[in-house]
Amino acid sequence: MKLPKQVTIIEVGPRDGLQNEKSLIPTEVKINFIKKLKMAGLQEMELTSFVSPKWVPQMKDAYEVISSCLDGTRDIVLAPNRKGIERLYETNCKAFAVFVGVSESFNKKNINKTTTESMEELKPLIQELKEKGYFIRACISTSFYCPYEGKVEEESVLKLCSTFVQYGVDELSVADTIGKANPKEVFSLFSRLKKELPNTMLTAHFHDTRGMALANVFAALQAGIDRFDTSAGGLGGCPFAPGATGNVATEDVVYMLEEMGIQTGINLSKLVEAVDIIKPHLTRPTESKYYRLQSAK
Ligand code: HMG
Ligand code: MG
Repeated sequence: MKLPKQVTIIEVGPRDGLQNEKSLIPTEVKINFIKKLKMAGLQEMELTSFVSPKWVPQMKDAYEVISSCLDGTRDIVLAPNRKGIERLYETNCKAFAVFVGVSESFNKKNINKTTTESMEELKPLIQELKEKGYFIRACISTSFYCPYEGKVEEESVLKLCSTFVQYGVDELSVADTIGKANPKEVFSLFSRLKKELPNTMLTAHFHDTRGMALANVFAALQAGIDRFDTSAGGLGGCPFAPGATGNVATEDVVYMLEEMGIQTGINLSKLVEAVDIIKPHLTRPTESKYYRLQSAK
């Protein structure tokens, strides 16, 4: 069995986890949640996003969240366009993420542009950010299935990923946006990405809509992936990907990996305390198995 000795967890709860939450969560609560997650040992985290407050009202306090939470770890902020980058420049954040869907229909629904239009807009922005020394992550949505177009071909994902590598991004986060991929598809795509983009940092991002996310983490490990996006409490979902539920829960992934002897550097009981902070403010129940077990004790 091919297994790494250690794995890096990128916490996406404060961004992916909360963006789909209907009730507006007080900024102070988000900040406490993030600080507790950092205390649990998370060294890389998507803090928030600079997007239109009309499209995603939950993220409208991005500036306040960033100002209170930046520390020496890799804090990432997402933005889809020039306006988002201008807002990023007003902060001290040094890690930035773009997001693009492989499928045109999803991209259009999510950012009101075709994939080709997005790439044209992002190319000079990525170059500019590289010159300024930013860490750049590209989140590749609908890498397996699109909620509007169905199955997405591996070739299309590889082509988009290679273009981003040519643009100079540091990391690709390859996403199963609607949680429909199976472990065989995951193994196949990530094996090809590892082979064809050997010098790029590759991360897997799974939503757990159909209960296959942990199996998909295992399949990606077999393909040589050692970086995973996860969300505390299993929160998450994209408002423009109908039917998609939360990301795979950080606690469940950490528990599984640590039980397998793979180090994550994350303290599970502090993670549970982080979920305790955010849970009273959510309108949906937590999807995390580990959290439910601990809460029942
Ligand atoms: P639009 O309406 O076509 O653009 O939206 P616009 O340029 O006409 O702007 C509309 C308004 O938004 C204007 O304000 C702009 O100034 C403002 P108004 O003049 O009407 O008052 N605006 C902004 N405000 C703040 N920050 C900005 C920004 N840009 C424009 N950056 C737009 C286009 C891209 C803005 C919109 O579609 C949008 O915000 N989309 C974001 C959608 C989103 O956040 N989706 C979730 C993240 S992706 C995801 O979750 C997937 C991922 O997890 C991986 C996976 O699982 O697949 C990463
Ligand atoms: Mg996502």
